[in-house]
Amino acid sequence: MHTVLMDVDTGIDDALALVYLLSRPEVRIQAITCTAGNVGARQVALNNLSLLELCGRPGIEVAVGAEVPLEIPLVTTEETHGPQGIGYAELPAPAQAISARHAVDVWVDEARAHPGELTGLITGPLTNFALALRREPELPRLLKGLVIMGGCFNYQGNTTPTAEWNVSVDPHAAKEVFEAYRGLPEDRLPLVCALETTELIELRPEHLKRLAEAAGAPPELVLPEQPAGRRSRSPNPLVACLSDAIRFYLEFHRQYDQGYVAHMHDAFAACAAIGRTPVRARLATVDVETSSALLMGTTVADYRGLWGLPPNARIVASNDPDQCFDELITSVGALARRIGQR
Ligand code: BDR
Ligand code: CA
Repeated sequence: MHTVLMDVDTGIDDALALVYLLSRPEVRIQAITCTAGNVGARQVALNNLSLLELCGRPGIEVAVGAEVPLEIPLVTTEETHGPQGIGYAELPAPAQAISARHAVDVWVDEARAHPGELTGLITGPLTNFALALRREPELPRLLKGLVIMGGCFNYQGNTTPTAEWNVSVDPHAAKEVFEAYRGLPEDRLPLVCALETTELIELRPEHLKRLAEAAGAPPELVLPEQPAGRRSRSPNPLVACLSDAIRFYLEFHRQYDQGYVAHMHDAFAACAAIGRTPVRARLATVDVETSSALLMGTTVADYRGLWGLPPNARIVASNDPDQCFDELITSVGALARRIGQR
């Protein structure tokens, strides 16, 4: 059994990560906290609540935390993830309300109440987690483990030439988090899913076709020659939602000359967090640039101990995209089939 505490900025790939975890029988989601990133934190919370209801899983706490980064103004990216953060998908307003608890309280209280039990999964900027660490420096020892989607190491950024989005939104938070992990035993160090491996998780139209098949739904064709913004006609509500969300992401990647593909960074991190996809990781000492205008948000990994500092991260060095997609499609497809039969 895995008990997962998520912090997200939903987000198309965050949405797939959440739906995937909901599809796993051995996963219990303790709570979902929301960070401003792809869209504002309140919209992130509404997206999560609507997705929970779509998947028939209301009752999971969804809390909002910091609505702006620690030190710099908030930048959101509706052009990447759509006006509401889930592409072209439009979900009904949720019936469940946003939790009255602050995200930082959720992390601190839940980790203290369940020492050694919770796997943290962060797929947005690290603002809430940095604030939680200020309040409870023992968090790295209280959590069972931590998986972070963020950064890029010796690899082109997706926000600036050297910076990845989640770190770029709140570089000061990322720096604090990596500092907090310095000197801890290897098995406590966060597993970092960075762009050089998450960009290999390249979703293509055939994956959506396979998802619909796995759901027992009619063929779902999302194709580059179709008009932009076309909506799914699938009778299966989860297939339709993911198809509409992901079509937007495919169009975004094509606009930036990456082809009609979509990088499912966060869904990979979710699979890795519960050990359902193989990864090889390398120990490194990670730091984040926060003062240079040119390199703001750049993540630097010292793999050779050149700084003479202990490692503070395990960076994913290789993954298996085909296996990861098989896992996502089989599991989310089975959930969609159950939802379609309701
Ligand atoms: C990360 O940035 C966001 O846009 C995605 O959801 C992912 O978490 C990739 O850089
Ligand atoms: Ca995200």
